Amino acid sequence: MSFQTLQHLSASAFSAIRRLLAVGRTWIQARPRLAAWFYPRVRRSPKADYRNHNRRMFAGFHEQERMLADQARMAFYHAAIARHIQPGDRVVDLGTGTGILAAWAAQRGAAHVYAIDHSDILSYARAVATANQIENVEFRAIHSTEFTVDEPVDVILHEQMGDGLFDEGMVANVTDLRDRLLKPGGLILPSLFELYCEPIKVNDARLVPFIWELDVHGYDYSCLERDRPQGPGYYHLVSSDRQLIDHFLGEPRPALSIDLHTLNEADMPHEITFTRTVVNAGRLDGLAVYFRARVDQDLVLSTSPLDPHRAPHWGFRILRTARDDFAVGDEIEVRFTIGRWPDLDSWRWSYVKRVFAQSHPVPPENSVIA
Ligand SMILES: C[S@@+](CC[C@H](N)C(=O)[O-])C[C@H]1O[C@@H](n2cnc3c(N)ncnc32)[C@H](O)[C@@H]1O
Repeated sequence: MSFQTLQHLSASAFSAIRRLLAVGRTWIQARPRLAAWFYPRVRRSPKADYRNHNRRMFAGFHEQERMLADQARMAFYHAAIARHIQPGDRVVDLGTGTGILAAWAAQRGAAHVYAIDHSDILSYARAVATANQIENVEFRAIHSTEFTVDEPVDVILHEQMGDGLFDEGMVANVTDLRDRLLKPGGLILPSLFELYCEPIKVNDARLVPFIWELDVHGYDYSCLERDRPQGPGYYHLVSSDRQLIDHFLGEPRPALSIDLHTLNEADMPHEITFTRTVVNAGRLDGLAVYFRARVDQDLVLSTSPLDPHRAPHWGFRILRTARDDFAVGDEIEVRFTIGRWPDLDSWRWSYVKRVFAQSHPVPPENSVIA
């Protein structure tokens, strides 16, 4: 057999094998159980995924400049540090970013400030501190869970709040440092937080109803209700636009209050129920999720959508509900179940409407579950 014939035969044989393998792979991939056995997925924990996402998100200038330009935020931290960090304190700035809170603590006379961050922004923080002649700040490129010190610290300074308060891992990160490195009686700045989930009416001109609620010049979309999206993302809206919300239906009250000095993540509730009596009549369009952080009675940071002094770089989240009209005196009983607090996609909500005029609950089919 000539060399060329041999080459031709082996090329055809290899190509037949490749085709056969491709057919086999398609056949296997069409059978999920078999596919999972042949091609096992590399599974990473949600925590590890979030850590990578967070590190990348804060590495560039844009996220940092949005935070630095938020005047309400920066005024809150500037005042908190001026009031509560004492000369001689040993401080950890958890997630220092561009290093500004650490620098302010050093300027207050802190004996030593550890400025730690797991993101690449840290090299710029070092440069800015040098350019501003800041001393007593020791920068460490490290994740907080791996950070240790020889001597306990007096203060943990942090800004770890996400739009939904818990979605940047604040509770786990701060309480881990608290339990390992904070002196007994030491200070967490800030430590008091309130989470709100208030029934709201959206401004008529800005309302985007569910598609199956729409009738656009007589073109009716109600048949799409059977195709309701299953993924949780569809039921959330994020905005920082104060014009979006017309009013709260009830009097806002915290759905959850925490103090990071005493809280343990494992003790956080997985179910929350509360009732709002309607004081401002109107259509219920959703539940607005926002938070307040408090350092002193008069030193509060708010992301409330209706607060003219709100810290604007934080968004507030609207958890959408079906449109439903409420009169003054009606009650809205809201129920949340929470899979994992930091994972907003694991939150589920429903409500029951109690009509004041009839003084009996409307049947459960009026409750909405997302
Ligand atoms: C919201 S920014 C605050 C930045 C800065 N403290 C400020 O007030 O401008 C949070 C920073 O914490 C960092 N970070 C988040 N979780 C961290 C952790 N567990 N350990 C170290 N750094 C963390 C992020 O990379 C980011 O730079």
